[in-house]
Amino acid sequence: MKKIAFLTGAGISEESGIATFRGSGGLWNDYDVMEVASIDGWYKNPELVVQFYNERRQQLESVEPNEAHYIIAELEQWFDIVVITQNVDNLHERAGSSQILHLHGELTKVCTEDHTNIIDIGYRNLRYGEKDKQGKLLRPFIVWFGESVPKLVEAIEIVEQADIFVIVGTSLNVQPASYLYSYTDNSTPIFLIDPHHLPTISRKVEFIQAKATEGMKQLKEQLLTSFL
Ligand code: OAD
Repeated sequence: MKKIAFLTGAGISEESGIATFRGSGGLWNDYDVMEVASIDGWYKNPELVVQFYNERRQQLESVEPNEAHYIIAELEQWFDIVVITQNVDNLHERAGSSQILHLHGELTKVCTEDHTNIIDIGYRNLRYGEKDKQGKLLRPFIVWFGESVPKLVEAIEIVEQADIFVIVGTSLNVQPASYLYSYTDNSTPIFLIDPHHLPTISRKVEFIQAKATEGMKQLKEQLLTSFL
């Protein structure tokens, strides 16, 4: 089976009703990213950060995966698929994908500040000041700006081994996700699905200018006719 690595961003969940971060209607128009999504923001006002992620987690419970998530899961019938996602939602899991790497953490988990204890809390709120059984303060299990990305090495290995690389719904503004494509072999085809602009990347890409659901339908056809 050919190996396909997907890199997904907020755009793939947009049609499920979750706002993207940048652009019109983006979350970072309403919130200061450094206040709610950076390690400095956590030290400055942890209560605000806990509340921000509680709201995201509550919203997650009310939305569903869309056709784009489902098609990626369906492609496992024909390909060895790994999804590297910047998204902290669980819509790839709920659509049935079996190999998912969350580069930026997961909304349905919390952890201690030293990351030694990671706890699944589902969709419930984290109480500000809540501690684990050892008395350690709990925080959202999110990789914030100013923190290292623990899954980066694993992600690079996946990209290096991919026969096909597909980027869906990310502005490629945030490192290291933005340069993962550079670890593909020079002969590896790269597809990029986005309804707006083609982000600048220094490799030849096949640009499918469409929303994720429409773009994934087109890509599925292409994969089944040209890559089996
Ligand atoms: P962005 O909000 O930066 O980019 C979303 C991308 O999705 C843009 O290129 C849009 O054109 C595209 N888009 C919008 N609607 C779409 C649709 N229906 N189908 C497909 N694409 C669509 O989101 P990310 O690139 O994911 O990190 O952002 C990366 C990281 O920045 C996030 O993981 C988050 C954020 O700060 C942290 O908070 C740590």
